[in-house]
Amino acid sequence: MIEINHVSKWYGPLFQALKDCTTSVARGEVVVVCGPSGSGKSTLIKCVNALEPFQQGKIIIDGISLTDPKTNLPKLRARVGMVFQHFELFPHLRIIDNLCLAQEKVLGRSHDEAAAKAMKLLERVGLTTHARKYPAELSGGQQQRVAIARALAMDPIAMLFDEPTSALDPEMISEVLDVMVDLAREGMTMMVVTHEMGFASKVAHRVIFMDQGEIVEDTPKADFFGKPRSDRAQKFLSKILSH
Ligand SMILES: Nc1ncnc2c1ncn2[C@@H]1O[C@H](COP(=O)(O)OP(=O)(O)OP(=O)(O)O)[C@@H](O)[C@H]1O
Ligand SMILES: [Mg+2]
Repeated sequence: MIEINHVSKWYGPLFQALKDCTTSVARGEVVVVCGPSGSGKSTLIKCVNALEPFQQGKIIIDGISLTDPKTNLPKLRARVGMVFQHFELFPHLRIIDNLCLAQEKVLGRSHDEAAAKAMKLLERVGLTTHARKYPAELSGGQQQRVAIARALAMDPIAMLFDEPTSALDPEMISEVLDVMVDLAREGMTMMVVTHEMGFASKVAHRVIFMDQGEIVEDTPKADFFGKPRSDRAQKFLSKILSH
């Protein structure tokens, strides 16, 4: 579903943020991306959603190349759900309208159709009673569940997450992870930047470890937790698991 082939990216003329990254995510596969701060995780995931350009290599989503000039990037982007650390809901719109906006504007759904879909998804993330509220009236965990529902409303072919729980208080982390675990178990194709190793060990098929712009490890989950090969991954794991 997602193919990343020899992708290199520079910010400005000198700083190389991604170095010859190659990996892929099959349909229904859940891949966790981890690694130290500044290693390029967000950059990689932004390249997959064409939010950042890259200078070398190819990314192909569901058979469509991002660098093909004929590709309609806004259309492709609408089909790949993205959930960030900060929820980025529209503060002036009620929750229900946050979920309807892109459905109507981008997919051309009628308001009734969009609202019905929105309510179904709010039910799924346990927030039906909050539909008429504004984002600021919800907790961080609730807002992040709304952000996930909003992405799902577009019927995405894959979902990308960039540290979706790292800005949340500890008691709210599990309510968001529960929604993500359900999604994974239903067969959603997911690429998830997270340091929640509990999530990784529960649902990930593979773990990618990045350091200094490189994919240092790309291994089945059991191998990653059992015997990460590189020193760098071992050090990283022992640091985060000791918390
Ligand atoms: N817009 C930008 N312009 C210039 N440099 C950038 C930009 N965005 C990121 N970088 C640099 O690229 C490198 C990779 O950043 P990135 O945000 O992808 O790391 P990350 O692995 O997501 O880190 P974190 O865990 O802190 O979120 C860092 O050194 C960062 O300073
Ligand atoms: Mg990041």
